[in-house]
This record gives sequence, C-alpha cells and structure tokens, in this order.
Amino acid sequence: MAFPDDFVWGVSTSAFQIEGATREGGRGVSVWDTFCATPGKVRNGENADIACDHYNRFPEDVALMVELGVKAYRFSVAWPRIQPTGHGEVNVEGLDFYDNLVDALCEAGIAPVTTLYHWDTPQPLEDNGGWLVRDTAERFAEYAQILGERLGDRVEMWIPLNEPMVETLFGYALGEYAPGKALLFDAMPAAHYQNLAHGLAVSALRAAGAKNVGTANNHSPVWPASQDEGDLTAARHLGAVINWMYSDPVLTGKYPDEVIPYLPSDYADDLPKIAAPLDFYGVNYYEPQGVAKPGEGNPLPFELRPIEGYPLTTNDSPVVPDGLREFLSTLKNRYGDALPPVYITESGCSFDGVHDRQRIDYHTEHLAALEKAMSEGVDVRGYFVWSLLDNFEWSKGYQPRFGLVHIDYETLSRTPKDSFHWYRGVIGGAR
Ligand code: FCB
Repeated sequence: MAFPDDFVWGVSTSAFQIEGATREGGRGVSVWDTFCATPGKVRNGENADIACDHYNRFPEDVALMVELGVKAYRFSVAWPRIQPTGHGEVNVEGLDFYDNLVDALCEAGIAPVTTLYHWDTPQPLEDNGGWLVRDTAERFAEYAQILGERLGDRVEMWIPLNEPMVETLFGYALGEYAPGKALLFDAMPAAHYQNLAHGLAVSALRAAGAKNVGTANNHSPVWPASQDEGDLTAARHLGAVINWMYSDPVLTGKYPDEVIPYLPSDYADDLPKIAAPLDFYGVNYYEPQGVAKPGEGNPLPFELRPIEGYPLTTNDSPVVPDGLREFLSTLKNRYGDALPPVYITESGCSFDGVHDRQRIDYHTEHLAALEKAMSEGVDVRGYFVWSLLDNFEWSKGYQPRFGLVHIDYETLSRTPKDSFHWYRGVIGGAR
C-alpha cells in the first residue's frame, strides 16, 4: 500500500468511554451517567465511573501513543467537566485537564485533534429539553468559544460534534442510548439543532482563533433489498435520514426533500449558519445498512434489513471493507468540489483477545479500500483507528472490545495487542 508521506495516521477515543473519574475534578453529571444509573439500559448494569481511568492515567496513554508512533490523537472533551451545568462559569480543573493533555501530546509530537461533543450532554441541559431545543445549540457555541480560546493555539484539528445522526437516532428516536427518548420521527429536531450547534461552533471556534475545523459524521452506504421501485424509494428515504440530513446542510446549505416535513418550522433561517465552509470533512465508517419497502402496518417509510453474507464482529457488525470505498465515491459524486479534504475520523471493529488477527485483517482490508477510493480521486488525508483502548461501548457496556490496547478492567493494566504492533509497522512504513 502506498499512502502519501504526509498522510495522518491516528487513533480515536471519546471522553465518556475512557476517562472514568466521573465524580472527580468538579465534573458535572452527564446524560450518560443518568442513563447508566437507570436499570435495564446498559448491559449488566455497567457504568463508566472508572472506565479506563484515563483521567488519572493519561500520561501512560500518551506514552502508549508514542510507542505506537501515531501522528495524531482524536479525543473528546467532556462538556460537564468544562461547564458542570452546561452554561455559565467554567470549571477551571476541567479545563486544566485538557490543557495538560494537549501539552503532553504536543511535547510528544502528536497532533491534538479535539472533538467538543461525543454525546455526554450536561444533565441540566437535557432537563431543559436537550437537543430538542434551540437553546442547547446556543449554549454549545459558548462552550466552543471557551475551548477555542484555551486550546486554539495548540489543537490542530477541531470537530464540533461526533455523529449527530447516532445521537438523534439512538438517543432520541429509538431510546437505546442516552437520553433514552423513543420519539421516532419526532426526534428530528434533535438533528437540526445539532447541525445548528455545529455551525455556531464553527464560527465561535474560528472567532476564538482556532484553525482547521471539520466534522465527524457517521455514514453508511444504503443497500436496497432489490431494484424494485418500492425498495429504491425506501433506500432514498433512509439515505436522507441517516446520511444526507447531516452532510447536505453542512456542505450545500440545504436539507434533502425527504426530511423537510420533520424539521422545526423556522429551520431555513439557520441554514446559512450551518453551512459555514469547512476545512475538512470527517467520515466515521463502520458498515452498510440494508433496507426494504415498509411491510403492511409499518408506519415508517422504510424497513431496516440486516446485511447478510459477511463475517460479523463480536458486536454483530458485518465486515464490509468495500463499503468504505463505495461511500467515499458516493460522497465525491454527490458534492464534487464542495467536498473538502476527507479524513476517516473513525474505523474499527470489536474482537476479543490480544492476538487479534481479525482486527489486523479488518484494518488491512479497510486501508486497501481506502487506497482504492484515493486512486479513484477522493482526496483523503488521514485515518483514525477506533480505538486506542478497549472502552465503555455505550449500552453494550464493556463487552465489545475495540482497542489496539487491551484493558484489564480489574487492574486497569494496558497491554498492546498484536494489532497495535501491526499498526506501528503500518505507520512506520514497514508493511
Ligand atoms: C461510533 C461511536 C464510537 C464507538 C464506535 C464503535 O459510532 O462514535 O463512540 O461507539 O461507534
């Protein structure tokens, strides 16, 4: 494989999934703390109170990244560490934590890539309506300004929100993730207000001196069950809901027609803010999504179908490397020159054990698909493995293991897996 010399090899994590120390350093309560404490929501009643204890052990994790040789580290900031109630006064201890992390990365020669929000909304903001109300987007802009002012001199890439689609779908439409609301299509304002939060944060970050602002949107190629008109229509509808509702407004200043009926009535005034030009477009890729026309009695305009005929991870995700190439090609065709340089801001899989041949195969195949997309003309500048460490995988708790580094959750000791050594070789050009 031949990637350009300046290709950015990285790893990704998120605050809630690794930090632990949920009651330390003046941190406020997040929706995920509340969700974990609600019986029946997370597998085995697990929570992230300790997780990987990264909050206290980050120097060890930075040392691991030095050994790995990554050029960039994508981490998220826990909003409740910075503003425990989601607005107003700043918790200095929280800000200091990220300042120290960023300094440690810079000293190690690793570019800090900062996500402002990876789903851990301060609980008081959720109590006030969360992403279903405009106010949260406005609060988010204030929060972005605080981070931009403090870290803007050192952070090399900024991502306002991680995967607003997943937050909308699983958090507000289906209730499988915090805040656990099952509103189906009434969840759609959450998509719009997150898109608005993105746009307002882009401006706030830039005004505070931050450079290089983009996204990390989750995307899936949509595969219709057949070429029949009914299945194709269902696929168009689903594509609008899971892909284009998040990329179109950001890249073109418009929403796809299919989702307009579900938006807040005054949405159009927000579009110019949402469409602030970006420096890069981040894609998180895991798997395609199958779809068919709705069966009788189904109130939705589509019916989800599993992708069959591919190997599965321990998280039951089908492994479809070419889906990455396919999606990037669709993205390029859809947006043409309006598409900024792309980074794969997440790609990864859950498999057990430290001798994780399957993870090595997974990334080898996804990198081959990526290289193909690049040779077909998609401008891709980097690849971030999800994830550096095994971590708290949301409602599935600690069972799926996504790390290049194994975590023993009893002792919190860290053991690099075979895939860690393999990735170091990739980065070092020793493939
Ligand atoms: C992505 C999330 C990330 C992790 C991976 C497996 O959708 O952004 O936090 O859960 O899936």
